[in-house]
Amino acid sequence: AKKEIKKVRPDISLYDFFQLPRISRAQNLDALSSQANLLGYSSVLRASLETSNVIPMMTTAAGNISPAKVLILGIGVAGLQAIATAKRLGARVWGYDVRADVKDQVESLGAKFVEVEGAADASKAGGYAVEQTEEFMQRQKAKIAESVAKADIIISTAQIPGKKAPILITTEMINAMKSGSVIIDLASATGGNTELTKDCTTVNHNGVNIVGNSALACSMPSDASKLYGKNVLNFLQLIITKEGQLNLNFEDDLVKGTCVVHGGKITNERVKALIS
Ligand code: NAI
Repeated sequence: AKKEIKKVRPDISLYDFFQLPRISRAQNLDALSSQANLLGYSSVLRASLETSNVIPMMTTAAGNISPAKVLILGIGVAGLQAIATAKRLGARVWGYDVRADVKDQVESLGAKFVEVEGAADASKAGGYAVEQTEEFMQRQKAKIAESVAKADIIISTAQIPGKKAPILITTEMINAMKSGSVIIDLASATGGNTELTKDCTTVNHNGVNIVGNSALACSMPSDASKLYGKNVLNFLQLIITKEGQLNLNFEDDLVKGTCVVHGGKITNERVKALIS
């Protein structure tokens, strides 16, 4: 495959939305974000159907039902929308991310932040996560184990661009979960955040349903297509003038960032590094 990639046709230019820099000006063409938003929303709806519990608190003549405890692992675009959706449904929500600076965002949505100190600095990674040290991962594991054991619903979204998703939930942790709980693993396409995740499959382990599905946005195709279409239109407006002429300005971070192949060469540094 690497050999084929190196033989690049000079008449083809290739742009990849996944290579967009995470800057404000890029937001309206960021297809990864627009789909992740729907993914976060639909993951909570799917979880509500998979769990054997109701989500909101209910006071009934036959007794009271406590609100479901929802844990969101990975607070990017999907994670934030999952928190907002779970809160709207009346759940008690906790969120965790290696990027400690998302704490404020988690709390502003009315959820609690699970804190683990000593994460590697991701501030220079353009908004993306970076790999962590072994020592940090051990501390993270202990803290996450506590939260996992209490949760009725877990939505996991943790990903590192271009790499396998980190394992945050071990089989041992799943063994400590209540029967009837559910994990929706949105990172399944890149290996999953649990040891038992199988992409495009629901695994039942001791009564815990582990749904491996990174493509839940497909369950709302109308809005997913509407947002994606708008992303594509915004991108085309960036590289085509009002007169309809192609205008590739490689001084522009967005054009330079998304361009993978141009003039017979691989131009994107991240892609170059991955195939070298
Ligand atoms: P993503 O889908 O790549 O990853 C999801 C989350 O998993 C991230 O928040 C990441 O920090 C977290 N994660 C990775 N490894 C982890 C681990 N070991 N333990 C716990 N969590 C872990 O993330 P997404 O949604 O693409 O967003 C990444 C960042 O980029 C966010 O800060 C987001 O706000 C920012 N962003 C900026 C945009 C812009 O300004 N144009 C557009 C979209 C996102």
